[in-house]
Amino acid sequence: LEHDEITLHYLLLGSDIRKSISPAVQNAAFLKTGFDGRYDLCEIAGPEFRGAVTRIRKSKDVGGFNITAPYKEKIIPYLARLDSRSRAIGAVNTVKVLKNGNMVGYNTDVDGIQESLKKLGAVSGRKCVVLGAGGAARACVYTALKDGYNSVTILNRTLNRAKRLVASFDSQFPRARIRVASLSSENLEREIQDCKLLINAVTNPFPFEVRFSGAQRGLKFLDLGYKGQSSILASARKARIRCMNGVLMLVEQGASSFEIWTGRNAPRGAMLAAARRELAR
Ligand SMILES: NC(=O)c1ccc[n+]([C@@H]2O[C@H](COP(=O)([O-])OP(=O)(O)OC[C@H]3O[C@@H](n4cnc5c(N)ncnc54)[C@H](OP(=O)(O)O)[C@@H]3O)[C@@H](O)[C@H]2O)c1
Repeated sequence: LEHDEITLHYLLLGSDIRKSISPAVQNAAFLKTGFDGRYDLCEIAGPEFRGAVTRIRKSKDVGGFNITAPYKEKIIPYLARLDSRSRAIGAVNTVKVLKNGNMVGYNTDVDGIQESLKKLGAVSGRKCVVLGAGGAARACVYTALKDGYNSVTILNRTLNRAKRLVASFDSQFPRARIRVASLSSENLEREIQDCKLLINAVTNPFPFEVRFSGAQRGLKFLDLGYKGQSSILASARKARIRCMNGVLMLVEQGASSFEIWTGRNAPRGAMLAAARRELAR
């Protein structure tokens, strides 16, 4: 069978993804556009990873997949090609499976972050602070540097992981100042005294209380979490900081994935409505 004669399957690969709202968001897009596709979860444990990827590559009915923690970097050796952004970031969240079984990697988290920052009204300024050094934080640091922030500070619990992140960006952005420090309330509260943009890419629950009373005027805060409200987002809102959660990012990265897979414009309104419905359940 040729790809265009059958219902194409799309997947989310990851561990601990049972509560993901991506199926609701993507299936709403298939329904709205009439594209003959279906999106499902594919939860895999570490030892099953290689076998699962091989099965997907050989199957004739998988058109592509999203990939999340902890596999965003692990997938790279299996891909025939990476787009320039996923190569620069060193992490992939979207894979298109070609008819010959070759797989191409993309990073659409960047689109989600860029759209969120635009909506938040963050104008690229001097300094941005990113909390976390995982796959999502990598995309945040890349986006900030690409968007013209010339100083990025990364705060992370595991300092070595943050240092590895810096090493991969230092040579790509030689004029930028990229620094790391450990994630603590003292460091965070000091760093937000002179920055215009704070992004949280640390897994919820956030590990400590944050006081925003000393934050620079006009600070904007993007929290990538989209389920419930993290304690840091609650504190920022209380301090009247302009904030946004990760719902728009989730929808926008999914919309870009949909466009890569299908070649059609994503129905963003229907996807956002589906995300909101699912989160309210
Ligand atoms: N809205 C969206 O579309 C979207 C997209 C992607 C991700 N996200 C969200 O972003 C967050 C990070 O995702 P990811 O893919 O980057 O995950 P990841 O690669 O597993 O990274 C997790 C990060 O959180 C830190 N962390 C975890 N538990 C911690 C704790 N108890 N104390 C201090 N730090 C802790 C880790 O620090 P260490 O390095 O020290 O372990 C690391 O920096 C998640 O909440 C995810 O839902 C949202």
